[in-house]
Amino acid sequence: MVNVLVTGGAGFIGSNFVRYALETHPDWHVTTLDKLTYAGRLENLAGILDDPRHRFVRGDIADRDVAAPLVTESEIVLNFAAETHVDRSILDAGAFITTDVYGTFVLLEAARQAPHLKRFVQISTDEVYGSVAEGASRETDELRPRNPYSASKAGADRLAYSYWATYRVPVIITRASNNYGPYQFPEKVIPLFITNAIDGLPLPLYGDGLNVRDWLHVRDHGRALDLLIDRAESGEVYNIGGGNEIRNIDLTRRILQLLGRSETLIRPVPDRPGHDRRYCLDTTRLRSLGWTPAADFADGLAETVAWYENRGDWWRPIKQQDAAFREYYDVQYGRRLAESHKSA
Ligand code: NAD
Ligand code: DAU
Repeated sequence: MVNVLVTGGAGFIGSNFVRYALETHPDWHVTTLDKLTYAGRLENLAGILDDPRHRFVRGDIADRDVAAPLVTESEIVLNFAAETHVDRSILDAGAFITTDVYGTFVLLEAARQAPHLKRFVQISTDEVYGSVAEGASRETDELRPRNPYSASKAGADRLAYSYWATYRVPVIITRASNNYGPYQFPEKVIPLFITNAIDGLPLPLYGDGLNVRDWLHVRDHGRALDLLIDRAESGEVYNIGGGNEIRNIDLTRRILQLLGRSETLIRPVPDRPGHDRRYCLDTTRLRSLGWTPAADFADGLAETVAWYENRGDWWRPIKQQDAAFREYYDVQYGRRLAESHKSA
């Protein structure tokens, strides 16, 4: 058995990866280490919690006593655990520093002493490049993060590299573009807009709606990581992009069309401070190893919309019964939506 540690495995991308890994690798034993913050949910691991090849451990990556023994027994570590929402980092950056930077440091320190470790995958993000007016970011480009989330991820990204350069910990760093698919927490734009539209609520579109993101299906992200575990070179960075650039306004219209809802639900609201205009990745390096995205964006988006239509049992308790989510929604959107009413 290959011992694989997945941190943040109860979140969106992590849980999709754990499911994919158990299906694809009969010889893997996967341990999920997750703090179960507001974004981490055991429901995301439904059907695999009792799998004899899977173990769930509730714990903090920044807690050495919990995290270090799990790293020590592993051959492969994937560090997905992070605070991940840009808007929350703008409201309060503290947890982003303690988890994304310090938590990664704790794992890397343990990795130095791990006798069987063959791969340490640091899950970074395309946001570390900052806003890209034209062209596509290459792995060798300068990092210019512009919000507390992306700056904390850039810190972890380079810290991970330093453990390869200095101690020969077999680190690779992946920088993916915006993911979409099932089990994404309904604070991020696609699930937020789908679920608001289902309930006939306004879709708060930031600024002029012309910001561009490049969408990657979460399953294609998993396939890329799987390939890189096998084929990547230690110390290297790999971009993972879906090649589906779309402006937020056009994405919003597509979601409304798929749900048969009116565009009058779109509510332009004051912009996110420091809102990055565009991300775009050059994925030549990854493609040269044989990866191409399998998902067609139109199909993938339709399938994602259908998933949220069918899985009210998953998102309604979060959006309608979770007091912390409601409080966040009020802080983030209350004034913005009120101001948009005044200017309409
Ligand atoms: P998510 O917010 O859905 O999940 C994060 C998970 O990490 C949750 O389960 C949470 O409980 C857990 N976690 C948070 N702090 C922890 C801690 N201190 N110890 C242990 N567990 C902790 O995030 P996601 O969208 O699945 O993102 C996963 C990773 O991928 C992150 O590192 C993120 O930066 C990166 N990433 C995300 C995207 C995207 O589009 N979502 C794109 C590129 C990179
Ligand atoms: O690019 C990768 C990154 O993608 C990841 O590293 C992050 O963890 C992930 O959260 C995501 O960051 P974004 O800021 O791009 O995602 P978000 O879903 O928050 O926003 C996508 C776009 O939609 C962005 O231009 C802001 C806009 N938006 C978002 C929300 C939540 C709105 O217009 N209205 C909204 O209410």
